[in-house]
Amino acid sequence: MTHSQLEQRIKDLRDLIARHSYDYHVLDKPSVSDAVYDSLFGELKKIEAEHPDLITSDSPTQRVGNELLGGFKKVTHSSRMLSLNDVFDRNAVEAWVTRMDKLLPGRKHEYFADIKMDGLACALIYQDGILVQAVTRGDSFVGEDVTANVRTIKNVPLRLRKEEGYEQFLDGRTEIRGEIVMLKAEFEKLNAHRRAIGELEFANPRNLAAGTIRQLNPKLVAERPLHFRAYDLLRDNPTDIPTNMFAYEAITAIGLNRNAQASVFTTVSEVMRFVDEWDKKRNELPFNTDGLVVKVNDRAQFAELGIVGKQPRGAVAYKYAAEQATTIVKDIVISIGRTGAATPVAVFDPVVVAGTTVKHASLHNADEIARLDIRIGDTVVIFKAGDIIPQVENVVTELRPKTAEKINYEQLLHEQYPELEFERTGKDVVYRVKGVSGPILLKRALQHFASKGALDIDTLGEKNVVALVDAGLVKDLADIYTLTKQQLLQLDRFADISAQKLISAIADKKQPALERFIFGLGIRHVGAQTAVDLAKKFESIEAAKAAGLDDYLAIDGIGAVVAESLVAWFADPDNEAMLMKFREMNVIPVYQKKSGKFAGQNFVVTGSLESMSRDQASDKIRALGGVFQTSVAKDTTYLVAGGKVGASKLKKAESYGTKIITESDFLDLLK
Ligand code: IVH
Repeated sequence: MTHSQLEQRIKDLRDLIARHSYDYHVLDKPSVSDAVYDSLFGELKKIEAEHPDLITSDSPTQRVGNELLGGFKKVTHSSRMLSLNDVFDRNAVEAWVTRMDKLLPGRKHEYFADIKMDGLACALIYQDGILVQAVTRGDSFVGEDVTANVRTIKNVPLRLRKEEGYEQFLDGRTEIRGEIVMLKAEFEKLNAHRRAIGELEFANPRNLAAGTIRQLNPKLVAERPLHFRAYDLLRDNPTDIPTNMFAYEAITAIGLNRNAQASVFTTVSEVMRFVDEWDKKRNELPFNTDGLVVKVNDRAQFAELGIVGKQPRGAVAYKYAAEQATTIVKDIVISIGRTGAATPVAVFDPVVVAGTTVKHASLHNADEIARLDIRIGDTVVIFKAGDIIPQVENVVTELRPKTAEKINYEQLLHEQYPELEFERTGKDVVYRVKGVSGPILLKRALQHFASKGALDIDTLGEKNVVALVDAGLVKDLADIYTLTKQQLLQLDRFADISAQKLISAIADKKQPALERFIFGLGIRHVGAQTAVDLAKKFESIEAAKAAGLDDYLAIDGIGAVVAESLVAWFADPDNEAMLMKFREMNVIPVYQKKSGKFAGQNFVVTGSLESMSRDQASDKIRALGGVFQTSVAKDTTYLVAGGKVGASKLKKAESYGTKIITESDFLDLLK
């Protein structure tokens, strides 16, 4: 982006974030999900970090804490209500532990983990066992006095319970911090009711809980089913509470709710098992969660570790991956599937959604493009359908560049496939190549796949291809590997020997050279040389598939047209299914390094070597681009003699012109 484009982007992002923030904080009616908001905010932060000259004091990134709204008395917290550093994976948890180890050398720590509730934080203050005040988090230093409203929450005791061993908490000041939540079931019930009476539905439980607590009329609050769940206990004398687990036991004893799932662990692996368990089961919880809180269990350690900025060093919030994110559409490419159907694919700036990087998504058909009104340069919201397949949810039209043109699908088809004609018949939403049916395309594709320059499958010529496709035995390229002799014998063309011959010829090509396989797939614009370049760069079909537009463009000799064609081909669901089928049939294309100083040289090792095992020798040969052969053949370059070489081998080697070398010669070559 140019500097002025960046300035425009920053301005658009700030305007939009300010609007969402108003909807969320002031109106309590969020217009986008948290994930989308975070994604936009993240993009703004990233641009500002790269261009600090563009930061202005009114940027939403420059706000410290939450703004306080009017209407309630302000109360200063006895100690700050902190937030936590987010972590997203095991590595980050380990890095957190390493940092603690550095600050507290040689000290063991236990980990206390609890489910992170998605509500609003609130502090309850009890004086001699009597509820005297309830305060929101506010800006972490100063909150709002919402005592009258919180008193209506049924599971907040107005007086603490007396229990043996915990009497001290009824003496003096006891503060209990926790989260006010609305349970999912209650939220659904409320919304069902609102639907029935034709009123607007509430957006989500957290916002409803937050909005409710800030109602000025406690009667209204009492009508809404809120719950309080504690996660912290504070006393003037911190030694009253040695560990977080003890705090939880005390919380239960004195009469408040907390999560029963909270547990203590001694290793990061145990913590991660807890993380994974609740990632799977989180939908079963009665309230919403977006992760876990992990703290050191020992409260003296926690205090000793201290605070950086707003966040304590002794705890982290483990956040589950967001299922939505925003990114920018870089291109729209079209793939022609095996039936001749044209499928448009949107290519993105890579973005992480639900834990994996998304580079493109199918747009299905022309109607979907029209419905979304998606354009190149647009910012879009991506989500994962069924948590696997990325999809475009909607376009953020507020961030559309002025130059973005509406997509004319037919024109796009013509630009990308000038030699083909397309048609759309009847109610069909899909454009298809005119005049060719699926079977014709498949026959062409299979003939190419089996041809000399590709997999070179013996006896799979035009006539056999036609017979297999017409009989319906083959529906895509991978199907040939499923063929049985029995099936072939049903066809007129085959007799015992010819059937066996074809089956063996196909089985022989279960480990084709990667470049031949890629060429054989018949990806538009991918000729033999491009296939070689791709094989060299990616070394496996999975890596070639996982690459994005920019990765293809980085290859010498690959331009925009080829790169787009590759993206479109790999993004086509038919092709994805076909690649999967190849794998299931154990068809594994192999890449043999053609570079390295042993390139083009073939080695046989006979006898045993003193300095290494045969496996080690073969690894070293392959690493340098050579081929490790098991017996001497016409093309063997070197015979490495570990000990005495038998007479017949010697003769063979001599007749082929193979050089016979000793182990120490071999070691010299390896150097
Ligand atoms: S412990 C030092 N436990 O998440 C702060 N917090 O990002 C220790 N939250 O401020 C907080 N569920 O408002 C803790 N089980 C839980 C929680 C929880 C929700 C909120 C809380 C906190 C924020 C941290």
